[in-house]
Amino acid sequence: MSQKIKKIGLLTSGGDGPGMNAAIRSVVRYALHYGLEVAGIMRGYQGLLEEDIVPMNHRSVSNIINRGGTILKTARSKDFATDEGKARAAEVLRRHHIGALIVIGGDGSYAGASRFYEKWGFPTIGLPGTIDNDLNGTDQTIGCSTAINTALESIDKIRDTAQSMERVFVVEVMGNQSGYIAMEVALAAGAEDVIIPERSFDYEAMHQDMVEGNRKGKISYIIIVAEGAAQAPVVAENITRHTGLETRYVVLGHVQRGGTPSGQDRILSTRLGAAAVDLILNGYFGKAVGVLQDEINVINLKDATRREHTDMDRRYELLKILT
Ligand code: F6P
Repeated sequence: MSQKIKKIGLLTSGGDGPGMNAAIRSVVRYALHYGLEVAGIMRGYQGLLEEDIVPMNHRSVSNIINRGGTILKTARSKDFATDEGKARAAEVLRRHHIGALIVIGGDGSYAGASRFYEKWGFPTIGLPGTIDNDLNGTDQTIGCSTAINTALESIDKIRDTAQSMERVFVVEVMGNQSGYIAMEVALAAGAEDVIIPERSFDYEAMHQDMVEGNRKGKISYIIIVAEGAAQAPVVAENITRHTGLETRYVVLGHVQRGGTPSGQDRILSTRLGAAAVDLILNGYFGKAVGVLQDEINVINLKDATRREHTDMDRRYELLKILT
């Protein structure tokens, strides 16, 4: 164990995701078990700059493993994004005798954490907390499994109306610039089509398919749209214009971010929280933890951002075969 580090800081940053609390619980209890003190930093990097810091003990994380959101609260900080902000953050951490920082967050939070480590040399570890599943070094990020399940619950309900009223539904899901949630949701919902940023989409072919299908008696469709690819109202309007079919749209939005974390997310969070503390105990910094093929995986923070999913064409092909 590193001799110098006695206290670690922990924050959640960017969009909250179900499972973040389970990760907080794991970090806190695992760190305490190995003799580290834990400082909880409220409201992400912004709270760090404002010195909104609270000591955490075993009891601070009681009864949170099953709760969505994050007890540490979260924010997107413009101040920390600047070099001046990062310099101030390093000062605050030193003043509070915090020797290492664990950041639970997504793409933007990782980019900040990586720069904080590379340029200011502050010992920082990243833990992948985002529903978007857009980080490298891990099969899934914390919150993604729950977000997919939440979207599916809604889409299953929408399907009842789509069938009963013979309508087309366009459902927009989150994911930032990634189409991962959209593709998984489309496959799991048995949707007719999916529009994602990773693939160019042939709208004309979809319209033709619909007209053709309609002629043969197919009257309800569910089309999933990733927010990074298109806007549901526009897609819906164009469908009506080109096919004459009655179309409705639903933007699922932030409902996907909340709620009770799935078992998968709780387990992922629990394993990753401990893995992050292990890195600190063993003196490794500037790293991001993940789980790849069921094993804990560690990569450099700077390589963890901007994941490209490479299997989207094959998944799309499968979706269309099964439709
Ligand atoms: O990164 C998580 C996420 O939910 C994205 O899917 C979405 O684009 C974004 O956050 C929404 O951010 P906000 O809650 O700040 O509107």
